[in-house]
Amino acid sequence: MRALVIGATGNIGKVVAAALEDRGHEVVRASRSSGHAVDVTDPESIRFLFDAVGEVDAVVVALGSVPFKPVTELTRGDYAAGLTGKTLAQLEVVRQALSRVRDGGSVTLTTGVLTREPIATGAAAAAANGALEAFVPTAAAEAPRGVRVNAVSPNVLENSPHYHPLFVGQRPVADEEVGRAYVLAVEGIVSGRVIEV
Ligand SMILES: NC(=O)c1ccc[n+]([C@@H]2O[C@H](COP(=O)([O-])OP(=O)(O)OC[C@H]3O[C@@H](n4cnc5c(N)ncnc54)[C@H](OP(=O)(O)O)[C@@H]3O)[C@@H](O)[C@H]2O)c1
Repeated sequence: MRALVIGATGNIGKVVAAALEDRGHEVVRASRSSGHAVDVTDPESIRFLFDAVGEVDAVVVALGSVPFKPVTELTRGDYAAGLTGKTLAQLEVVRQALSRVRDGGSVTLTTGVLTREPIATGAAAAAANGALEAFVPTAAAEAPRGVRVNAVSPNVLENSPHYHPLFVGQRPVADEEVGRAYVLAVEGIVSGRVIEV
């Protein structure tokens, strides 16, 4: 398969890209500052990316910036930033990918554990993740040409120790487990699923 990984230099994206390459797939990497250049907060930039990359069987989005603040300090602007930087960015990739990926292909989004395990300062991230996770089953049901739509919802990664102090009592997950979840989404037959890791 030919897979486009957007956010391929990140903690999750580099794991996904390596896992797919280990499985023999061709991986096309994209982010703002490496590989194919894209800013997923800009629909024109996403359109340009798909034009530049050409046909792919799978699109994986592994990014999303969200402010972390106590709920009493979150502003309307903070929520808007989280919804723009994580939710709308990924929704726009799906919107465009549905007419771009090959028949029977897939689109895989990235959410996170905060929809099921609250942490202090995580309210905006939980809201952004929750909107994406609610979207996935309907998008999958309506997706044309056998295209599958899933999300992977990892716990904090072992490879992201800077986040560990926030995730009190959580069990960080190994790269191997994270990679396996994305392989399931890309190579498997599942659709409409939020795959928890
Ligand atoms: N790390 C964890 O433990 C963990 C666990 C669960 C969920 N998550 C969630 O998973 C997502 C990714 O996390 P991460 O830790 O892998 O993030 P990260 O290390 O900051 O990586 C983000 C990746 O996305 C790219 N990127 C950022 N903004 C972009 C934009 N507007 N357009 C295109 N590319 C962009 C970055 O490269 P450029 O800077 O070159 O654009 C980078 O490749 C986040 O939403 C995070 O909340 C993370």
